[in-house]
Amino acid sequence: MDEKFDLADMPGNFGIAHVRWPSTGIASKINAHPHLDENDTIAVVHNGTLKNYDELKGELIAEGFKFKSTTDTEVISHLIRKYMNEGFDLEHAFRKTIERLEGSYAIVVISKEENNKIFATRYQSPLKIGISDDAYFVSSDIPAIINYTRQIILPAEGEMIILDENGVRVHDENDNELEKEIVLIPWTAQMAEKGDYPYYMIKEILKQPDAVEFTLGERDNIQKIIDDLGKIKNICFVACGTSYHASLTGKYLIQHLAKIKTDVVLASEFKYTADTLDEDTLVVFISQSGETLDSMNALRIAKETSPTLAIVNNIGSSMTEEAKYTIITQAGPEKGVTATKTYIAQLTAIYLFAGLLAKDYELVDRLYNVPDYIREVLDKSKEIEILSQRYSFADDLFYLGRGFSYPIALEGALKLKEISLIHAEGYASGELKHGPLALINYTIPVIVILPPGSDYEDTMVNLEEVKARKAIILSVCAEGDAKGECKSRDVITINPKVDEILAPLVYTVPLQLLAYYVTLEKGHNPDKPENLAKVITV
Ligand code: M6R
Repeated sequence: MDEKFDLADMPGNFGIAHVRWPSTGIASKINAHPHLDENDTIAVVHNGTLKNYDELKGELIAEGFKFKSTTDTEVISHLIRKYMNEGFDLEHAFRKTIERLEGSYAIVVISKEENNKIFATRYQSPLKIGISDDAYFVSSDIPAIINYTRQIILPAEGEMIILDENGVRVHDENDNELEKEIVLIPWTAQMAEKGDYPYYMIKEILKQPDAVEFTLGERDNIQKIIDDLGKIKNICFVACGTSYHASLTGKYLIQHLAKIKTDVVLASEFKYTADTLDEDTLVVFISQSGETLDSMNALRIAKETSPTLAIVNNIGSSMTEEAKYTIITQAGPEKGVTATKTYIAQLTAIYLFAGLLAKDYELVDRLYNVPDYIREVLDKSKEIEILSQRYSFADDLFYLGRGFSYPIALEGALKLKEISLIHAEGYASGELKHGPLALINYTIPVIVILPPGSDYEDTMVNLEEVKARKAIILSVCAEGDAKGECKSRDVITINPKVDEILAPLVYTVPLQLLAYYVTLEKGHNPDKPENLAKVITV
């Protein structure tokens, strides 16, 4: 965009917009939404991916329609035009268009020919309706509209939403008007505002003690779910990205504490596991958004055979509608593209679940100290900011951790790479010698996660291996760990009461701060990494 518009300065009282890159075709002005028909009267925005757009495009071109973009979405505006040319009104031309589409979509349509009306529908992509005193909203995500309203309607797949001067109506596939419940979201506008913070990411990092405290309030709900589940033979976690790292911690915890066999599967690879599920396997979906398409697709398969539990942050999200059980993490709205407080809240819910499942009430009690341990780390922000100046020069970094610290290494590396755009690899420290050790030299910083516990000595051996190759070592270790401090060039120290089992909840925080400050050093915006979206619905 060359020009920026302030909504308040724009004429008219209705409109549509799309603020993400197209999923088909390159990121360019011509591919940006909305997409218009040839007469420039119908405008469409679309989230999702159309599988049969090539075929539809060929058909429309053969009929004389001219395309401007290389996105899948443009077929929608031309199809609506085609059906309007055949005599259908906008709503029915839109309905006929939807019948032709294969794939996932949330679509919003307006037309000059039927002014002051907005039509929308969804299939396998999220869409919410917001209602305030003086406006209606249609959005893919609640955090996007929470500044304006907390009253939300959740349309089901295939329902048609009609907004006009008479208000909002929702019709089913057969055109019958539906009575939809209005859900009150317990988030405030202030929670979703940046306030005096320079970026959402730092606000969200600093709010992590609250995210843990509020999520610990879910203890009774989690106990009820465990009671209702009865005996579980196996557990399978399914997730993507940061939520996958939380799941990996869940596997280590549950196997260690409850001795229940637990797998972790990337949602996009789930179909290769689906056949092994049965009614004795609890399938747990971890997702901050509750909308990630890969995870949603896996949930739809898993619920055919197995009990399902969704651990999500976004109330009213699709996973809460489809899973048998739901735990809502209490992180509040997260606006930064990179997950921080929702991750720590996911971990809190997973620790509660694992601790209660294993009846390890000592561990559960220790969780109530975590907010203070995190606050102590946050007090070291300045120190980490200074350190970041030394590490922002790197082209490649390794993050090493063993056991409970392995997912911390993965998450630390993901935080850094997605926002600073520096290449970083998280590795199980014992695995390094099976190949990547060859890459280590004096130009490569290696971040070693070194909490006290049974894995300490083995991780120290791995630290020595990279030190022998002259790597620049930054250790995250316990205060008073003289060995860790003297073997490393730099250290970030953590309260020694945080042992390896609690480490994921606390040792991750300095790595988030490091990623944040390195990103600022590099001159990038930590809230909006290029080409990444907050919710991956494609
Ligand atoms: O909403 P979800 O937790 O399902 O999202 C999964 C991933 O897309 C997400 O964690 C992603 O990796 C973030 N950018 C991590 O910061």
